[in-house]
Amino acid sequence: MAAAGNTFRQRAKHPRSIGRDTGGMDIYRAPDTSVIHPSILYFGTPVVLITTRNPDGSANITPMSSAWALADRVVIGLSGGGQGLANLLREGECVLNLASEDMHQAVEQLASTSGRNPLPAWKRDSGYRHEPDKFALAGLHAAPALTVAAPRIAECPLQLEALLVHSAFRPLEAWRDDADGYTIIELEVLHVHAHADIVVADTQHIDPTRYAPLFYLFRHYIGRGASLGKTFKAQV
Ligand SMILES: Cc1cc2nc3c(=O)[nH]c(=O)nc-3n(C[C@H](O)[C@H](O)[C@H](O)COP(=O)(O)O)c2cc1C
Repeated sequence: MAAAGNTFRQRAKHPRSIGRDTGGMDIYRAPDTSVIHPSILYFGTPVVLITTRNPDGSANITPMSSAWALADRVVIGLSGGGQGLANLLREGECVLNLASEDMHQAVEQLASTSGRNPLPAWKRDSGYRHEPDKFALAGLHAAPALTVAAPRIAECPLQLEALLVHSAFRPLEAWRDDADGYTIIELEVLHVHAHADIVVADTQHIDPTRYAPLFYLFRHYIGRGASLGKTFKAQV
């Protein structure tokens, strides 16, 4: 059954949890919790600006944040009805440009736009408008890629040229009646371009203390805080 509105399905009524002793030997008291039904689950992932090529040869920029990386693969999630998704499925390639925290205003310039024309009704009704030149709108600059047709975004500290490996459509009726579902996309990264000032000199490593990604956290833009330490596997 479709959910009413854009919220989590309320599968069961849960009473508000109360703080309870853990029952262990120590006296740790678990924080109070309550079961909530948030409209979104964007728990804080980096902002990626995906560049793709439109059918007329111009470039499109799709801001997104549902992305994770493992080995040379990046898996992303794109909701239906977007121009970037159509371009990526058609051309089989893109550039994943990682935004830095000082780019949050440029990203927000792009936030209410789409390269698609005309827009799907649900998107137009949510306040989106068509924008044919997102580079100009956001004051960003295109740089040629090595192997894919879409340009890199020069301002982004990391730019990953990538090929489409696999895609899988997922319907979303249960979440929102009017949406076009979403597509899981697996990409193989071919080339990693990095701003020189975030690379540890004479190595292949990113310096995490100098790389400042922009994060998207429950629809707010957040920068990185101070470094807290590193894992036992860190190489620099
Ligand atoms: C910071 C940010 C993160 C976003 N994350 C996603 C995402 O992970 N997946 C998605 O489908 N749309 C995401 N969006 C929404 C798309 O950017 C939006 O649908 C846009 O219109 C797509 O542009 P296009 O139609 O030109 O591809 C995000 C937007 C912003 C501003």
